[in-house]
This record gives sequence, structure tokens and C-alpha cells, in this order.
Amino acid sequence: MHVRPLLQTTDEQFASALAVQQRAEQAYDPQVPPITAEELRLLGAHDRSNANRHERFVVLDADETSAVCHLEFELDEANAHLASTEIFGAADDPDAGRAGLATMLDLVEEDGRTSVLGWGPQLPAESAFWEGLGAELRYRERISVLDVAAVDADLMASWIDQRNERAADVQLVRFINRCPDEHLDAWTASRSAMSDAPMEGLDINDTVYDSADIREDEASLVALGYRMMYLLALTPDGAPVGHTTVRVNTHRPGASDQWDTVVLADHRRRGVGRWLKAEMWRWLRETEPDVTRLGTGNAQSNDPMLAINVAMGYVPLCVFGAWQADVTTYRQALA
Ligand SMILES: CC(C)(COP(=O)(O)OP(=O)(O)OC[C@H]1O[C@@H](n2cnc3c(N)ncnc32)[C@H](O)[C@@H]1OP(=O)(O)O)[C@@H](O)C(=O)NCCC(=O)NCCS
Repeated sequence: MHVRPLLQTTDEQFASALAVQQRAEQAYDPQVPPITAEELRLLGAHDRSNANRHERFVVLDADETSAVCHLEFELDEANAHLASTEIFGAADDPDAGRAGLATMLDLVEEDGRTSVLGWGPQLPAESAFWEGLGAELRYRERISVLDVAAVDADLMASWIDQRNERAADVQLVRFINRCPDEHLDAWTASRSAMSDAPMEGLDINDTVYDSADIREDEASLVALGYRMMYLLALTPDGAPVGHTTVRVNTHRPGASDQWDTVVLADHRRRGVGRWLKAEMWRWLRETEPDVTRLGTGNAQSNDPMLAINVAMGYVPLCVFGAWQADVTTYRQALA
């Protein structure tokens, strides 16, 4: 077995990598449209989302791909100890998963990092893979899906109207792909507030973005072929209140997601979170008829966000886990 960067594969190797990734995604979400070759190629070439560094590799057995590895380096100083990975195909072929991990650990150590987080569906084979390497399950995320057309329009109208009771002075700004310069400071602060989402037992620190990070993230998502719909809530003097995001996956609209939703601590319990979600739903219905289904992920312990999502109609699909261990623990297990 050998490991090679995704974009240095032959056509045949790339085609089998695509099949591995499709199978792995459909194992936990049978309804999701399969990832396309173009989307996977773009991910290999342009992924700088979260303002992080991303690398993608394949594990080859002769000319056949057995696993696809994604390695993400957290770039903010507070998380200089950390790297994250997902290994598509490790559940079906643990030896290939281990070979991919060994290569990724070399890069992690070269970069002076000490801790590695493995991310994937909490299915028996995935759990056995990470726990067999000595990693601990430190975080659980409920993945849910929404049938966009089935959402109760009257309920959404009531959430929009109710904001007048507790948040009548708050304004919403809509933008696609890029925040206007005039709101960039508020947008950057709201994006950094996402660190308030529960991280359960993970050894991970709050990420604080600056405006250059945000511009890099925005540009990367556009280069990947995603249309990003952003709703930013502001006070009358332009200070941040919160935001929500939808990633329209233009390669396969049925794999679009609701991403960040946050309300800054001083503004919570005023109905803004519910209002943001309802306005985003309305905007989607007006402009994105192909987005019939939205996925989202929430920490299992995130009662406030789950309360809103369940009321809106999100239905649980599966649970993802994040397993974490030091590099030395993985090395010992691989030896
Ligand atoms: C989740 C979050 C966005 C909710 O925003 P919010 O503006 O405070 O929520 P709302 O005021 O619209 O609350 C709507 C309803 O949700 C429920 N809810 C909200 N916060 C709650 C809490 N802390 N505990 C229990 N229920 C809660 C209530 O039913 C509430 O209705 P009510 O106030 O009329 O009783 C906010 O708590 C937050 O930013 N959390 C940190 C970031 C985060 O976790 N984001 C999600 C990541 S996936």
C-alpha cells in the first residue's frame, strides 16, 4: 500500500477515490446525492475553508484506492497543537486507514503538532477503528436533515413576527459569498463567537478570526463551487448580534447545509436565533428551488440550538463522533 496526494493520482486512481468517498458518505446518509468528480477535485485544489490548511491523500493498493484521507491543520495560534482528520474508507479497510493515518502523522509531527482528532460517523466500524488506535470519543454531533418544502410556513412567519417582542431594534443584512466591507468587523466578531458552541470533552481552544482569515475563508468557499448565503444581525449602530449561514452546494444542491448559527451572549433569548433561521428558510424558498434538503450538525449537548432545529422540522439522521489522542498514542498503536 502507498499514499499519494489526491491530485497526483491517475484517472483510474482518482475514479476509485471518488467511489470510496461516495460509499463512505452514503453509508450514513443514503439519500445524499453522491459527491461529483469536480467537487472532489476542487476540494483537493482549493480548500482553505475555516482559514485552515487542508491536505487530501489517497491510500492505494496497486491502482485501486482503498481510503481517502483529509487532514486539516488548525492555523490559529491557540490550536497550534492540533490537527484534524477524516478517513473515508477506513471502516471497510482498516489497514488502509492505518496506512493513511501513518502518513498524516508524519506531516503532523513535521509541523510540531501533538494532538490529532479523528472525525467520522459513530458507526460500529468507525468507532472500532479510532478506539482501536487508543483515541477517546470526546465529542458527539447529531447530524439532522430538513425537508425544506415541508417546513411550516405559518410557524416561520410567527418566528419572524415574534422578534418584534424582544429584538425590534435588530436589523438583518443579507449577502452572498462576500461580506460588504462596511460590515466586515461585525461579521468577523460574529464568526469568532461560533467558539461558544459546545465542544464537549475535546482539547480544542476558541478560534479568534481576523478579517484576513474571513476573506480567505470566503474566497475558498467560492473557489470550491459553493454559493454561501449569509444573514448577519446587527444593532442599530452596526454592532454584531449574530448570524446564520447556508452553503448551497452547486455541484449537488441536495447536499446543501445549514452552517454556523450564533447569537452573541448579550443578545440571547430575544428570539434572534429563531428569527435568523426562519428568515434564512424564507430566503432559500425565494431563490433556491433546487435546495430541497438541508443538513446540519449540532453537538448532542447543544440544547438551545437543538430546540430551535427540532421545532423547525430537522430530523436526526445519525451521530458523528470526534475521537482524540496524542500523536504518541497513535504511533504506539500503529507500531
Ligand atoms: C443556539 C443560539 C443561536 C440560540 O440563539 P437565541 O437567539 O438565544 O435563541 P432564541 O432566543 O431564538 O430562542 C428560541 C427558543 O429556543 C429555546 N432556547 C434558546 N436558548 C435556550 C437555552 N439556553 N436553554 C433552553 N432553551 C433555549 C427556547 O425555546 C427559546 O424560546 P423562548 O426564549 O421563547 O423560550 C445561541 O444559544 C447561541 O449562539 N449559542 C452558542 C453558539 C451555538 O451553539 N451555535 C450553534 C452551533 S451548531
